[in-house]
Amino acid sequence: MSSRASTIFTVAGVTVLGGLVAYAVYFDYRRRNDNEFRRKLRKDKKKVKAAQSDAVQASAVKPEDIRAALLKVREEELPENQEEKEAYFLKSVDLGERLCHQGPTFHLDSALSFYRALRVYPSPVELVMIYQKTVPEPVFKIVMDMMQLDCDVSTWAEKFVRRATLGYYDVFPAKHFNVSVQDGSADTRGVKRKILVVAKDFEAGDVIYKEEPLVAVLDPDLQGKGTHCSYCLRHIQKGMAIKPEVDRLDSVYCSKDCQLKAKVQSQSLLFSLDPYLPPEMDSGIVGEQNNEKREQAQQKFAEFIKNKSTPLLVARFVGRQVATETSKLVPGQSVLADFPQVADKGSDYGIYDHIERLRFWEPSIEDSEVDLLRDVLASALPGLETSVTTEQYVLWKSKMTYNAFGVCYGGGRDDKPVSTDRPEDQERTRTPYGTSRQVGSGFYAVSSYLQHSCAPTARTSFSNGTSELHLIAFAPLKKGDEITVSYVDITQHASETPEEARRRRRMELVRGWKFKCECTRCLEELQTSEVAAELELGVDRDESKVERTAERLARGEAFPAAPVSAESVTALD
Ligand SMILES: *[C@@H]1O[C@H](CO)[C@@H](O)[C@H](O)[C@H]1NC(C)=O
Ligand SMILES: *[C@@H]1O[C@H](CO)[C@@H](O)[C@H](O)[C@H]1NC(C)=O
Ligand SMILES: *[C@@H]1O[C@H](CO)[C@@H](O)[C@H](O)[C@H]1NC(C)=O
Ligand SMILES: [Zn+2]
Ligand SMILES: [Zn+2]
Repeated sequence: MSSRASTIFTVAGVTVLGGLVAYAVYFDYRRRNDNEFRRKLRKDKKKVKAAQSDAVQASAVKPEDIRAALLKVREEELPENQEEKEAYFLKSVDLGERLCHQGPTFHLDSALSFYRALRVYPSPVELVMIYQKTVPEPVFKIVMDMMQLDCDVSTWAEKFVRRATLGYYDVFPAKHFNVSVQDGSADTRGVKRKILVVAKDFEAGDVIYKEEPLVAVLDPDLQGKGTHCSYCLRHIQKGMAIKPEVDRLDSVYCSKDCQLKAKVQSQSLLFSLDPYLPPEMDSGIVGEQNNEKREQAQQKFAEFIKNKSTPLLVARFVGRQVATETSKLVPGQSVLADFPQVADKGSDYGIYDHIERLRFWEPSIEDSEVDLLRDVLASALPGLETSVTTEQYVLWKSKMTYNAFGVCYGGGRDDKPVSTDRPEDQERTRTPYGTSRQVGSGFYAVSSYLQHSCAPTARTSFSNGTSELHLIAFAPLKKGDEITVSYVDITQHASETPEEARRRRRMELVRGWKFKCECTRCLEELQTSEVAAELELGVDRDESKVERTAERLARGEAFPAAPVSAESVTALD
């Protein structure tokens, strides 16, 4: 692979689930349902054998041939409407896939086909990542060479480069959120933290924005109790709960609307025995499905999450992604699965972009954890589990652990069972009431950027009585002012001295978010007390981190950072 190509991958980041799922679902579907496709696959296998014998003579493809082919493709007109684009995409990938197994003679044609698909795919970065994993190396290399040649001119390439370098925070958060993301102070690694600032003036008490969670879960002890809606986390009046006939988690819902959304977004994939694919796509799969296996996988997973929130958050997040992707493949499918709109309309940033840039630290994870989820996925839609690698799972879990908010309304509750885990292992969410008073946890795209302060300028509120987060200004805010909230209970309890209260809140921040608070209040208070006691906090300023790609972008290293290899450029020019 040329150095330019590897640069593209570093910039683009690690695995991206969305495209992968679409791809996996599509191929799985074709493999199972399309006799013609299956026959071709078998025939291709035979051909490969034959082709391999004359493989020796056909060495690498010549640069001038690549160039000529590329020029030809650039002349081709692209389909205009969405439907035609999709058909064109599928046709091209399909052809590329078949050609690439027919020996080196067909490598250039195969690469061209994959390249055509790239030109119409809404997120080329993701598709390149998929190609890297699925397309044989020699063909992949030709595709990359073509990209390199094409990079300066074509519009999708411009979009691709722009996406990889700048522009994200111009469209995220969407204007209507009334806030923007800016650079704040640096963490231990010298990477600046992103902060939220207001985009206009607000008075104390004003609602700055309202935000729906990407995913939310009830606290485990409330799940199955029948008192709260499993989807929106609302408290349900006695006797008003809607109870699905079959539900592994004994979920109840406050409304038909919540029940349907939960079902579409993840419940049917994770906790039901309903066939997962819609009937249009499902011919033949239902019969093969092993309900016993599925039930067992779900049971084990349900058992595992009895005392934990984050694994279910992650599972629901995966479920919602799969649902979003699946619905794209089925014409006329409902949009109930789609994630809330958090970037300006018209920008092509997706859920992966929103997750990629979030801060995190790595919590402990049990070995079996990923397998439990993978088994659930595999038993619902064989092949799907391959999209969730351990690395990917850990990353998602880390981000949810770091960024989740506690959903707490009406002053919170007192009846949450005390955790038996060691303090450093307990799940913590951002909430000034304390995680012990919340009814559930939510993961929010925009609010994840809210930084902590022990003298915050805003507070989160769930005054709607659901997981909808309202951000309320504490004090008058002028356009450009940073918005902060407190992640922990910053009040002084009756039983505490001021020093004890300060120590408790700072220790909570260390345990939950791995940073030594340097807010104005802490700095002020610490000046007047002995600094020695602070050493025991055991962290070095801010040990949270961002992914390598985001780190590089934050440092302003523009694409392409590495020098383009002289050899590949001259060869191609
Ligand atoms: C942004 O503020 C305006 C009023 O200032 C409000 O109508 C709007 O709902 C706010 N945006 C969100 C996402 O809440
Ligand atoms: C799970 O929580 C319950 C209380 O809700 C407790 O009795 C039980 O010991 C916990 N189990 C584990 C494995 O921590
Ligand atoms: C709570 O929020 C939802 C969604 O934004 C809205 O439909 C509902 O009317 C709100 N309920 C109350 C009591 O404000
Ligand atoms: Zn509800
Ligand atoms: Zn502080």
